[in-house]
Amino acid sequence: MHFAPRHNWMNDPNGLVHHDGVHHLYFQYNPQGNAHANLSWGHATSTDLAVWTEHAPAILWDDDAQIFSGSTVVDHGNTSGFGTADAPALVAFYTAAAPGHQAQSIAYSTDGGHSWEKYHGNPVLDRGTSDFRDPKVFRYDDGADGYWVMVAVEAHDRQVLFHRSDDLKTWTFLSAYGPAGPVGGVWECPDMFPLAVDGDEDDVRWVLLISLNPGGIAGGSGTHHVIGDFDGVSFRPTTPYPPATPETLVERSQTREQLEGFGWIDFGRDCYAGVTFDGLARHERTLIAWMDNWEYAGSIPADPEARYRSAMTLPRRLSLVRDGEGVVRLRQTPVATGITEERVVDLGRLERNSSPTQEIPTSGRIRISARLGTSQGLEVRLEGQDGRGGAVLRYDRGAARIELDRSRGVEHLPTAFGGVQTMPVADAEEFRCDVWFDSLNDEVSAVEVFADDGDRVLTSLVPAFSGGVLRISTVGGPVEAVSLGIAEAR
Ligand code: FRU
Repeated sequence: MHFAPRHNWMNDPNGLVHHDGVHHLYFQYNPQGNAHANLSWGHATSTDLAVWTEHAPAILWDDDAQIFSGSTVVDHGNTSGFGTADAPALVAFYTAAAPGHQAQSIAYSTDGGHSWEKYHGNPVLDRGTSDFRDPKVFRYDDGADGYWVMVAVEAHDRQVLFHRSDDLKTWTFLSAYGPAGPVGGVWECPDMFPLAVDGDEDDVRWVLLISLNPGGIAGGSGTHHVIGDFDGVSFRPTTPYPPATPETLVERSQTREQLEGFGWIDFGRDCYAGVTFDGLARHERTLIAWMDNWEYAGSIPADPEARYRSAMTLPRRLSLVRDGEGVVRLRQTPVATGITEERVVDLGRLERNSSPTQEIPTSGRIRISARLGTSQGLEVRLEGQDGRGGAVLRYDRGAARIELDRSRGVEHLPTAFGGVQTMPVADAEEFRCDVWFDSLNDEVSAVEVFADDGDRVLTSLVPAFSGGVLRISTVGGPVEAVSLGIAEAR
């Protein structure tokens, strides 16, 4: 269900682009081993976002620089001259990373994204600094006056810089955003795109995504978002976050309470560097993120046979919705092409004891619906048939929180891994959430929890469990009715 390379180290998704009916996923990749080194762009393609075919690495590191994160566009107007009007080139933007120096470079492909040529005039944007990286390029305004915009970070300054270009090769400065909001770590992998609130084309907002490491809401790596407006020059948040101070600019300095005042795409430990596809239909936005955390990514045991490290999240369709209080929220909906029809199991009323054990597939989705009545919540335990691994998910109605506890069976996992993650959700008598889960290797499985219709998401690796079972128990009083919709990975 989740993309992982056949071998070796992987981190951020890069250059996500949809072209000629094919989704291209490039990714930070070490072709020679499973440590974070020799960074190059790996490559995989899919037509349905469920089944991926891995190809030879697309852009390889060389003696001068590693190929750090970035993006890809289809140059339809042949503004770069790399393609032709009939056969547009794909142009990739990456950070050429050398010790003490990072600048933006480009490569182009005239065979639909399989083979790439580095541009002889590289770098195309160089500020002479050491942490300027992760360019995301998009076309601003499809009309005749349109131009290209690049968002990239000065990571240590906690700033997103906007530049523009007419030919993808010459870039001029437009403006900067930040430092503001979550700043207890460096800023990385920005993305920015417009979305129509509740599909209303007269109410289009811009969403700015910024990954932060460390200092994220769940500890370590995390990704926040800012909703606002972009006029082609600068980004203005609808509700600005407080500007940074010398105190907040310190690593991990912001408290959980302060961090809860900002927008996060995910409340779990393992959703980082998420970016969206270029080249989809207008206002169709699909995000993929790296399902890991820099606090321990290098020390989670690699798959013993394939020896790959890390997987990506499910692809998630993004939308903006206005909630009951008029607040505009970012909603995530998994692109659910990889599972079967669901089988509904009605568990009826639950008294104090836990429900009979339900067998669940090794990979799939469980839709939990419960009428809580006077109960204070419920607890869902996922574990292997041998009683090993898994996690416990608790809904605490009074506290309006979901907790995911992955502290059991962590013997082979790094110490930084264990513990409880929590996410604020609505206090509702009708509780509903979707739990996606997948076995990744002998040591870890992945769990992605979508609550409040996808307005709240928690992604977490958990100690491996397979051929699993599920049990539900009540928290503070009987639950009136529980039903499960169980779907399996195809
Ligand atoms: C984010 C990141 C990026 C960088 C890449 C290097 O996870 O640190 O800022 O380009 O990884 O692999």
